[in-house]
Order: sequence, then C-alpha cells, then structure tokens
Amino acid sequence: MTVPFKIDLTDQVVVVTGGSGVIGGMFCRALAECGARVAVLGRKAENGMPVVADIEAAGGQAMAVAANVMDKDSLMAARQVILDKWGKINILVNCAGGAVRSAEIPQDEYADLEEGTDSFFTVDLENVKRELELNIYGTMLPTQIFGECLVGQENANIINISSMGAFGPLTRIPGYSAAKAAVSNFTEWAANYFAKSGIRVNAIAPGFFQTKQNHALHFNEDGTMKPRSFKIVGATPMGRYGEPEDLVGALLFLLDPKGSRFVTGVVLPVDGGFHEYLGV
Ligand SMILES: NC(=O)c1ccc[n+]([C@@H]2O[C@H](COP(=O)([O-])OP(=O)(O)OC[C@H]3O[C@@H](n4cnc5c(N)ncnc54)[C@H](O)[C@@H]3O)[C@@H](O)[C@H]2O)c1
Repeated sequence: MTVPFKIDLTDQVVVVTGGSGVIGGMFCRALAECGARVAVLGRKAENGMPVVADIEAAGGQAMAVAANVMDKDSLMAARQVILDKWGKINILVNCAGGAVRSAEIPQDEYADLEEGTDSFFTVDLENVKRELELNIYGTMLPTQIFGECLVGQENANIINISSMGAFGPLTRIPGYSAAKAAVSNFTEWAANYFAKSGIRVNAIAPGFFQTKQNHALHFNEDGTMKPRSFKIVGATPMGRYGEPEDLVGALLFLLDPKGSRFVTGVVLPVDGGFHEYLGV
C-alpha cells in the first residue's frame, strides 16, 4: 500500500492486536511503511503471516505473534517474544474485536412479531457477554500488559478502535454498541490517567466498512445489499461505505509525534459524516 502521507516511526516498535484482520492488517502495512517494526498479533501466528510477508516484501520489518487478547498468559508470552527480538515497545494499537454474530437481535424493533419468533427475549446473553468481553476486556488487558512497556518510551501511544455504536446504540447489536461505548470511555479514562507519564491514548471510531466480520449482517450471499446497507448508505452524507484505506490518515495523524503531540483522549470518527447526520 502507499500511505496518504508519511510520519517518521523509524525504529519504533508497534504492537497491533487483531493485526491479521482487515483493518488491523491495513494498519500494520501502513505503520511499516513509515519505518516502524510491527508485531502482528492474532489468535494464531500463521494468520498474521500474509501481512508479515507483504511488509517484508516491501522492505519493512514485522513478525507474527500468537496472542489471545482475553488471555493474560498468552499476552505476557507475546510481550516477551517482542522484547526478546526488538527490546522495546513504543506503540500499541488495540484492533482485535468485533460483533459476535450469535449476539445479534434478529429484528430492528419489537413490533408485530408472530408468537414464537426469535427476538431479544430468546437471544442467549452468554453470547452478548463474550462480545462485551472481547471488545472491552480485550482492549483493557493488552493495555495493561503492553502499556507497561510504553512508560518512558519515545512517542508512546495507544490507539483503540471504537465504533459508531459508541455514540448511540445501533439496531440489532446492543452488546457490541455497549462494548464500544465502553472502549470510548476507557480511552478517555486512560488518556487522563497516563497523561503525565507521556503516553497519549486516543481512539478511532470507524463508520461502516465492508469487512469479513460484518459481511453477513450487511450483504446477501450474492453480494447485493441488504435493507440495512441501504439505510447505512442513505444515512452517510458521503453516500458510501468506507474503505479500510480511509482509516490510515487518522491513524497516522494520531501517532504523529509532531502533528498531534498535544492530542489525547479523543475518539475520532472516520465515517463519511454518519454520526453527525440526523436524517433531515
Ligand atoms: N468493519 C467495520 O465496519 C468496523 C466498524 C467499526 C469498528 N470496527 C472495529 O475494527 C476492528 C477490526 O475489525 P475488522 O473489520 O478489521 O474485522 P476483522 O474480523 O477482519 O478483524 C478482527 C481481528 O480481531 C481478531 N480477534 C478476534 N478475537 C480475538 C482474540 N480473542 N484475540 C486476538 N485476536 C482476536 C480476529 O482474528 C481478526 O484478526 C474491530 O475492533 C472492529 O470492532 C470495524
């Protein structure tokens, strides 16, 4: 890929959780292009190998490391692998997360349902619990494990990934919306807590992007748009879904040691205007 503009991250070590995913992988490639050494974290190391191969082919440095963001021991082991190889960590990007399909509510609103129809009342809340844990605990735990290494480092930064659901609940995904609201709230808390230590903490709130994890919610099997997608595009003043590349400029701005050095605790929407638009 080619980044929209470059910032100087030469020799800095970046950890990207969910680095094997669509948005995380894009972030890894962009950061490597700016000179960073990138640890691509995923539940299985082999999932990160294609991203590592791309970075190495472009002349950058990366390694794939296995880690489950909900498991302290696996994060500690990943941290040790990174420190053994590169000796420090400057930046953490908490990108692992997402909506859990089985936690979805089958309809937008509870009205005119035939008896026996699945609804909020029949959803197994254990799935919602997993969704809450993945997104908020899976952000706080890596912040605890890797954040400790950021103390005293040059350009120490943490970037979290929130969502439009954090500004107000999205239909069908109350667990995910609540979890991302918690991610935004934690971003603000951590920004305050770490401000004097030199660690900046910010978040990006993507609008709607076509990725693997939300494909079934938005698109039919033949690729045509579901009614939900027409609503999304209609409520996005710029009139389209985002492309993962659209997020890169926001990431680089927030990590730029010169350009955003006095910016901490913001949740930056990258959404084509979605969250500002009230529909009329
Ligand atoms: N796609 C969108 O429209 C959109 C919008 C707003 C926010 N987001 C957020 O962006 C982030 C990236 O999403 P994406 O669309 O690239 O999806 P993705 O599914 O491609 O990426 C998610 C990554 O997280 C990893 N992951 C999941 N559980 C994990 C665990 N327990 N431990 C370690 N890794 C784990 C997955 O393996 C995957 O690599 C997520 O936090 C998601 O909630 C996405």
